[in-house]
Parts: sequence; structure tokens; C-alpha cells
Amino acid sequence: MELSERITETGMKHEEEEIETSLRPKHFQEYIGQKTVTDNLKVYIEAARMRNEPLDHVLFYGPPGLGKTTLAGIIAKELGVDLRITSGPAIERAGDLAAILTNLNEHDVLFIDEIHRLNRSIEEVLYSAMEDFGLDLIIGKGPSARSIRIDIAKFTLIGATTRAGSLSAPLRDRFGVVSKFEMYTVDELARIIRRSAEILAIKIDEESLLELARRSRGTPRVANRLLKRVRDFCQVKGSGEIDLDITNKTLRALGIDERGLESLDREILTMIIERFHGGPVGIDTIAAAIGEERVTIEDLYEPYLIQSGFLHRTQKGRMVSEEAYSHLGLVVPGSEQLSLEK
Ligand SMILES: Nc1ncnc2c1ncn2[C@@H]1O[C@H](COP(=O)(O)OP(=O)(O)O)[C@@H](O)[C@H]1O
Ligand SMILES: [Mg+2]
Repeated sequence: MELSERITETGMKHEEEEIETSLRPKHFQEYIGQKTVTDNLKVYIEAARMRNEPLDHVLFYGPPGLGKTTLAGIIAKELGVDLRITSGPAIERAGDLAAILTNLNEHDVLFIDEIHRLNRSIEEVLYSAMEDFGLDLIIGKGPSARSIRIDIAKFTLIGATTRAGSLSAPLRDRFGVVSKFEMYTVDELARIIRRSAEILAIKIDEESLLELARRSRGTPRVANRLLKRVRDFCQVKGSGEIDLDITNKTLRALGIDERGLESLDREILTMIIERFHGGPVGIDTIAAAIGEERVTIEDLYEPYLIQSGFLHRTQKGRMVSEEAYSHLGLVVPGSEQLSLEK
């Protein structure tokens, strides 16, 4: 599959990262949706400030592109402290983490993205840091090795992960606040696109705005990407404002259908239907058949397929819904198949 077709892609080009930063809300007022998460956090932030204590450690989980990093930035800003950003895979040795931790100031926020990918031995350094704001360091080697404890600043850890289930229990238990990120409604996405269009000085009519929102997989990052692609098409065509015609043409060129599915989504559904009679089929089998990593399917594709009702997760594996058959223009198989789904 062409890279350009993959609007869900997590990897970002440098230029794209810059635009993403420019579109990133910096205050709660600009942060659209996720009301449950933000309402609670506002209370905890206020309470922590009143007590002059650090905010409790916070764990964010949910599919990529839903605003976890953005919200971590807003929290630090709201607390009036510095934000230090790193990620699970970036921390290679316990010493790297110790260096970061000892450099934090009182009440600072440390954001660890993809925290489930922290190496277990490094993760253990976090336990005492989170609980007692201390680090146990081993000095020396062999029989002369000794352990010393040093104090670190009272900080707040914000961890982000695509799935809370992939975190070890001892780590998960050390977060006082655990927040699940939900996919955004069409209305919320429309507001996000409207805001982005204003920032990027893009003219777009209401109809197109809604159409983009409907086809953004419930994900702000995707919504912003689509907006930028439509802008490109609009520019080349030489028209000053994005209209429905340009919007539909762009989406067609990107292989994104009316329900927001892209080609790999359809490939997954078709494969399950054609090779496994609609399922149930295990995630590893799906990944192997499609030639993608299991995590890619689980984190990037499956959440939206489930959210939009095309795929069901059962104890025996994934099953394609009746709706998926009709969406793909395929004949729904006999009643046996259907009764299994119910
Ligand atoms: N609630 C929101 N309101 C407005 N824009 C948002 C919101 N959440 C995310 N975005 C946009 O989507 C982009 C991706 O969000 P990000 O925080 O990087 O997601 P995550 O860390 O969950 O992968 C941001 O650059 C921002 O422009
Ligand atoms: Mg992020």
C-alpha cells in the first residue's frame, strides 16, 4: 500500500510535526470534547494547587491521535510548571530515567509517551520515584556494591499508552488518576476542523467541514490531516474555498470511503469475510493474513472498525458484522452466520 494512502499512519514527517504543534490547543478552553476526562482533571488540578501539592500521577489511555499529548501540555501549563516529554522506547537505560528525574523541579510534569514500552528494569526505577519521590541507586559492582537513596522533586508523572491492559499491574496501580480517551463525535470533530481551518487560514464551507468530520475516524489527528490534504487539492484546482466537490474528490483520491474507512480497513474486513467466513478469527491470524504487525491492527485500525460497528470482539476472536457485508456490497451469508453475531 502506498504510504500516502495511509491517513492513519503514526509516524510523522518533520513538517507535519510542526503543523501539528501549531494546531495543538494550549488551554482547556481550546480543547474540544473529552469532557469527562477534562472536567475531572480541572478539579484535581485546582485541588492540588490549593494544597500546594503536585498533581497526582495521571495515566491516559486510548488510540493514537485523540489528544493525550496535547492534554498533558495543557495540564502543565495550567499548573504553571515545566513539562518534560519523553517516551518509553527513548529511555534505554535506568540511568537515562534517573537523569531525567533528578533534573525535575518541584511539581513539574514528566510526560512519558508509550509508557507500556518501558523496559521492566527501568520501570522499577519509577516505582519509588512515583511513590516516595526517591531513587535507589546502586553504586559500584559485585560485593562492594551498595545502594544509596536520593530524593527527587515532588513531580507529576503523566503516562500515555494505547492500551491500559498492556501496562504491568504494579505500574498501573501507582497512578492516582486513570483516564480513558474516547473517540470524538462528528460534531466535536467539526469544531476541531473549524478551529484548525481558522488557524491555517483555510476557507471551507460548512458542508465540507461536516463531511470531513464524518470521515475522520473519530480522531482529531486524522481530521487535521484530511483538512490539509483537501487544502492541497483545493490549491491545485485554484479555487479559493474548499467545497463539497473538492472534499469528495480528495477523499476518493485518498481511498477514504463514506464511512471513513481506508483501504486497509476494507482489506481487513474483506479478508475476514473471504477467508474466515466472517470470523471469529484471532488477531494474530488477521495480522499475519494482512501482513501487518499485530499492534498496528490493534491500535490503529481495530478501534475505529469496532467503534463504527463493522467489527465485533468476541471471546473466540474478531467477527465481521452484517453491516460490514452491506457496506462492502457483499451478500450477507445465511442465518447461521447471523445468529452467531447476535
Ligand atoms: N481535544 C482536542 N481539541 C482540538 N484539537 C485536538 C484535540 N485533541 C487532539 N487535537 C489535535 O490532534 C493532534 C493530535 O493530538 P495528540 O495530543 O498528539 O494525540 P495523542 O497524543 O493522543 O496521539 C493535535 O496536534 C491537535 O491538533
Ligand atoms: Mg501523543
